[in-house]
Amino acid sequence: MTSQLSFDVQLNPHARTAAERQAVLADPGFGQHFTDHMVSIDFTEGVGWHDARLEPYGPLVLDPATSVFHYAQELFEGLKAYRQVGGAIAAFRPYANAARFNRSALRMAMPELPEDVFVESLERLVQTDREWVPTTEGHSLYLRPFMIATQVGLGVNYPSKTFRYIVFASPAASYFAGGVKPVSVWLSTEYTRAAPGGTGFAKCGGNYAAAFVAQRQAVEHGCDQVVWLDAVEHRYVEEMGGMNLFFVFGDRLLTPALTGTLLPGVTRDSIITFAEDLGLTAEEGRLSIEEWQAGCESGELTEVFACGTAAVVTPVGSVKGADREWTVGDGGPGAVTMRIRDELLGIQYGTRPDPHHWVHKIC
Ligand code: COI
Repeated sequence: MTSQLSFDVQLNPHARTAAERQAVLADPGFGQHFTDHMVSIDFTEGVGWHDARLEPYGPLVLDPATSVFHYAQELFEGLKAYRQVGGAIAAFRPYANAARFNRSALRMAMPELPEDVFVESLERLVQTDREWVPTTEGHSLYLRPFMIATQVGLGVNYPSKTFRYIVFASPAASYFAGGVKPVSVWLSTEYTRAAPGGTGFAKCGGNYAAAFVAQRQAVEHGCDQVVWLDAVEHRYVEEMGGMNLFFVFGDRLLTPALTGTLLPGVTRDSIITFAEDLGLTAEEGRLSIEEWQAGCESGELTEVFACGTAAVVTPVGSVKGADREWTVGDGGPGAVTMRIRDELLGIQYGTRPDPHHWVHKIC
């Protein structure tokens, strides 16, 4: 895909050697290592997007009074490039991320980036750093596009008039150390992630900043992850920290409906779409914590899993709240969860058919 913007290319004279790269790829972890290049594009009100460039990965030099540092006018995306069977490299649904990036941009009073430019930026980066795409099964190259407000000044009467878009890449193993081990979750009744009319549906850094305190509380209670509830009644499940949730009732899947307060995950949408291909039904609706507990205790609710680009499909094994605690199923990964996970990974790595045309070949 080639967009209307012309890209200046400056290769990294200090790119890592093959041996240095292999040392990283042997144990990449998640979000710890970065490839040799990045793509940057600037925006100026009245001019539009300009100065697109592929350049060496490195630090940014920004004035301390730059708007993003003070008012968090920022948004980001997350998607992955996979080494497919046969060696080709493909991204998964990059146009879905481009569309969500622009929905977030509108909410954050930031400029939309043409979808073709978004996708071309990923393609150029992955093509240049293709040797960084892991060959190890289950590993991938995580792509992190983001946009920041770059205007210098402390006034808040108007949003920034200048912005920078950047995408960089990070070789990734499993998001959760320990692979597909079920996670334990903490129900946050003290804190709220998002309220109606707020920024819950936008993938903006502020949502994640406000979540850290509850995530820390989850860990203090011996849990892996926080589960967010609705802001009004503190009863209805919304999402997990950085991931969407699915509840499995036999062959029926239920996931919280997109009310504007939770992230419209690309993985969430993919699972809803392909559920039927697996003989499952998928519904969007509402589930309270009381229904979650009662469903597990009666055996009607058989499995729960979280999903997201980074986490893929991760089983939830146990739940804890201030006044309650229970186990999901037998606490282990459920059969439906693992089928969904295998189907998704199969499409992404090219070992299964791609009936919905989601795989976007890059090189
Ligand atoms: C993703 O799944 O890509 C996310 O953005 C989640 C998290 C790493 C912030």
